Amino acid sequence: PTIYAITPTYSRPVQKAELTRLANTLRQVARLHWILVEDAAARSELVSRFVARAGLPCTHLHAPTPRRYKRPGLPRATEQRNAGLAWLRQRHRHQRAQPGVLFFADDDNTYSLELFQEMRTTRKVSVWPVGLVGGRRYERPLVENGKVVGWYTGWRADRPFAIDMAGFAVSLQVILSNPKAVFKRRGSQPGMQESDFLKQITTVEELEPKANNCTKVLVWHTRTEKVNLANEPKYHLDTVKIEV
Ligand code: UGA
Ligand code: MN
Repeated sequence: PTIYAITPTYSRPVQKAELTRLANTLRQVARLHWILVEDAAARSELVSRFVARAGLPCTHLHAPTPRRYKRPGLPRATEQRNAGLAWLRQRHRHQRAQPGVLFFADDDNTYSLELFQEMRTTRKVSVWPVGLVGGRRYERPLVENGKVVGWYTGWRADRPFAIDMAGFAVSLQVILSNPKAVFKRRGSQPGMQESDFLKQITTVEELEPKANNCTKVLVWHTRTEKVNLANEPKYHLDTVKIEV
């Protein structure tokens, strides 16, 4: 199966660095199609140029987050992930679904190559641990006799699926046979996006544990420090235009 990775991304000083690091990982994964969705009213020149030289199959989309949703404490990237889902469904609207697996790859996380081998065998929905998240070194699905029976998490253990966006993959077949499953703003609290989405397409009993029964961390919820631009010049500008 082809792996489809949906990556929301937005303009900020570290954007190109994040995308460079992510592309360097994804380029090493066979049969991977990158769906890069800019949080913007149009595709930017920076990302367009980047995509053209990225060296991997990539679809470049854009979807702006309405201004009223750009607030701390509100979920991020809802519109961008939905744009990626819509593209996937549109692309496969005629033919019977080719085998495929969908994964949500935020632009700042750290992904091992082994993770992609694990998710490629997803039949419906697969899950695995995520490192450096939820106020712990890792969160993970608890597995007994090959089934998910609970969640090891430090944060809102009452979530039906107590899992980060980087902790699951979904088969393309499941995405296509649940055409209405999307990320929702209304009624979705921060941190509940994953649960609210997974509820629409699967049950906890049905989940397929990966990464040796969820005992190995293969992806890390790393976050990039906000960059210090205190010494950016106000007047003595550089004499040539630099691509950063
Ligand atoms: C956590 C989860 O890991 C995310 O999957 C979830 O979307 C997010 O919380 C949330 O609050 O909704 P966190 O590291 O806090 O992640 O979020 P970011 O990495 O800042 O953003 C997640 C993704 O959305 C990134 O790919 C980022 O580039 C993108 N993003 C962020 C936008 O497209 N627009 C924004 O305004 C902010
Ligand atoms: Mn992040």
